[in-house]
Amino acid sequence: MSNNRVSRRQFLSYTLTGVGGFMAAGMLMPMIRFAIDPVLQKHGGGDFIKTEHKIADITDKPIKVDLKFEQVDAWYKSEVTNVAWVFKQGDQIVALSPVCKHLGCMVNWGENSEYPDQFFCPCHGGRYEKNGKNIPGTPPTGPLDEYEVKEEAGYLLLGPTKANTLV
Ligand code: FES
Repeated sequence: MSNNRVSRRQFLSYTLTGVGGFMAAGMLMPMIRFAIDPVLQKHGGGDFIKTEHKIADITDKPIKVDLKFEQVDAWYKSEVTNVAWVFKQGDQIVALSPVCKHLGCMVNWGENSEYPDQFFCPCHGGRYEKNGKNIPGTPPTGPLDEYEVKEEAGYLLLGPTKANTLV
């Protein structure tokens, strides 16, 4: 007889270890998959979102445009509405972010009657020129961000924000 023969005890031990390991993997894999699922999801980063505004209707006076999209935060989905201030500058469509560069309040166009042709931040009196340039002597330290802009079938689409290119 060979000395390499597997004893009944060893055979049982190997078999039980193999079956136990297989069962444990079968239970753990779905749990691991569930735990890291958000990481595995594809995200459409940088996508453009269609607005309800026709390019032809946009004038040189800034208008508030809503930007609705679904936001996925891990397992939680919610509908978010962002805002952009949109106007025409020559042939170019400009869309500025309303987020003040001081502490993040929302700016409005022409809200302050003393400065009807400027963006005004009600929180601390920050002001910006129409192209988003922050006015020296007011709290903001940088210009308003700009949205990427696209046209599709005559409608305005807005993309991610970027640093202001107009100032
Ligand atoms: S947050 Fe806009 S001026 Fe302070």
